[in-house]
Amino acid sequence: MGIAEDLAALRERGLAQLAAISEAEVLEEWRTRYLGRRGELTQVLRGLGALPPEERPAAGAAGNRAKEALEAAYDDAVERLRRAALAAAIERERVDVTLPGRTPQVGQVHPTTRILREITAIFARMGFDVADGPEVEWDYYNFEALNIPPDHPARDMWDTFYVDAPPSERGAMLLRTHTSPMQIRVMDRYAPPVRVIVPGKVYRYEAISARHESMFYQVEGFAVDRNITMADLKGTLARFARALFGEERRVRFRCDYFPFVEPGAEMAIDCHLCNGAGCRLCSQSGWIEILGAGMIHPKVLQVVGYDPGVYSGFAFGMGPERIAMLKYGIETIRLFYANDLRFLRQLRMLDGAVARADAGGR
Ligand code: DAH
Repeated sequence: MGIAEDLAALRERGLAQLAAISEAEVLEEWRTRYLGRRGELTQVLRGLGALPPEERPAAGAAGNRAKEALEAAYDDAVERLRRAALAAAIERERVDVTLPGRTPQVGQVHPTTRILREITAIFARMGFDVADGPEVEWDYYNFEALNIPPDHPARDMWDTFYVDAPPSERGAMLLRTHTSPMQIRVMDRYAPPVRVIVPGKVYRYEAISARHESMFYQVEGFAVDRNITMADLKGTLARFARALFGEERRVRFRCDYFPFVEPGAEMAIDCHLCNGAGCRLCSQSGWIEILGAGMIHPKVLQVVGYDPGVYSGFAFGMGPERIAMLKYGIETIRLFYANDLRFLRQLRMLDGAVARADAGGR
């Protein structure tokens, strides 16, 4: 067999094999085998030297053509494999942009925080400062300075958790049963006039029920200056009630007793659900009590060194959970601190209600 036939056969075999290759390692083996320095083509071309001189140019040219053809085919194969690898990668890493997205869990403001913000915002607009104070308190601030001496029967109004700690000159350590002790702490520290609102947690040693928790919030407020009268109390609290429950609300004040105020009162709004006609929410009475209030007792002013002959003030206290329950139609206080996400998520729906309240309050 002559070199020309060998070359033709080699070329044909090489191209046929190459066409079947789909893997890079196999392709590399092919290259070594056909085009390598000791490859088959080299072997055949070695035979050129043995040819008679007149046949060499034609055979040499045939050898070059075979080499070029194999090299070109090899380059094509490299490109073919590169494209195939790319296509495979694209397929493998494919993202289905039509898949519905995963909705991230969005938190929402706790109903207590929400109502506290609403309440404090209303009083802030009326010029009240916001203060907070200790939840672990001394008997002196929680009771004594608020005109509730030891053994006073009024202490029965607040079932108290006492802390097992040595008493100080300010009496026993306890968990504050109301936010009223902050009246004393603020007035001890600041000279009149003062206008302060105090949101915070309080504790009661109570049986837990639909309406009672052993921890809940209160919002205390008070204002002391010269010439503060009951009219200021009524005006301020009526403004508050209307900002929160709607401008059409009517308010009702009735006598009530709290040791640290004289006179003391409770304020009710006409039921915002039935507009006073009587319904389940207002127990058919048409009225809903929302806070306690009164003119700060002269003894309380004296305790903090304010002269009751010169200064007077009003104070009030309310339960924000109760207010949120009324406003949002929540039936039991226990839901607030049970941390059941189903309840907390539901409150997202209140956003509209809150926006309306904000608009009405301005
Ligand atoms: N501290 C009272 C309570 O816990 C609420 C209260 C009533 C606060 C009348 C006041 C007030 O400031 O004037 O029941």
